[in-house]
Amino acid sequence: MKDQELIDAAMAAQQCCYCPYSSFPVSAALLTSSGKVFTGVNVENASYGLTICAERVAVGTAVAAGERSFETLVVVVKGGGSPCGACRQVLNEFAPKLRILMVNQEGEIVQEANLDDLLPQAFGPHSL
Ligand code: THU
Repeated sequence: MKDQELIDAAMAAQQCCYCPYSSFPVSAALLTSSGKVFTGVNVENASYGLTICAERVAVGTAVAAGERSFETLVVVVKGGGSPCGACRQVLNEFAPKLRILMVNQEGEIVQEANLDDLLPQAFGPHSL
């Protein structure tokens, strides 16, 4: 799959973000090794701390569909910022070297990185 298709999927998901408290929409699209795409959006809550990030929604949706092997993640966020620490940790569980494209709300790639650069010396399944 071309990067642009994954970016398009993540951009389309922006309209589903539920962020009435922060007004900070974040969406994601995760490409599996089998070629499927799972999207996620941030889902906020009136009990603010229960908010779930877009990346973790995408991972959870994919895992619930039986997918555990991931190639690329696109995150769409204002300015093309990088995933939070909690999301890095959850992504590391399944794809320690995941390729991550950070895309701004105009659909432009602002940064590209591999997860092991964003989360060095990670604690993962092999640490147990
Ligand atoms: N957010 C994400 O969805 N992913 C991240 O990696 C960082 C933050 C969301 C959570 C909250 O709804 C909003 O962005 C502001 O923090």
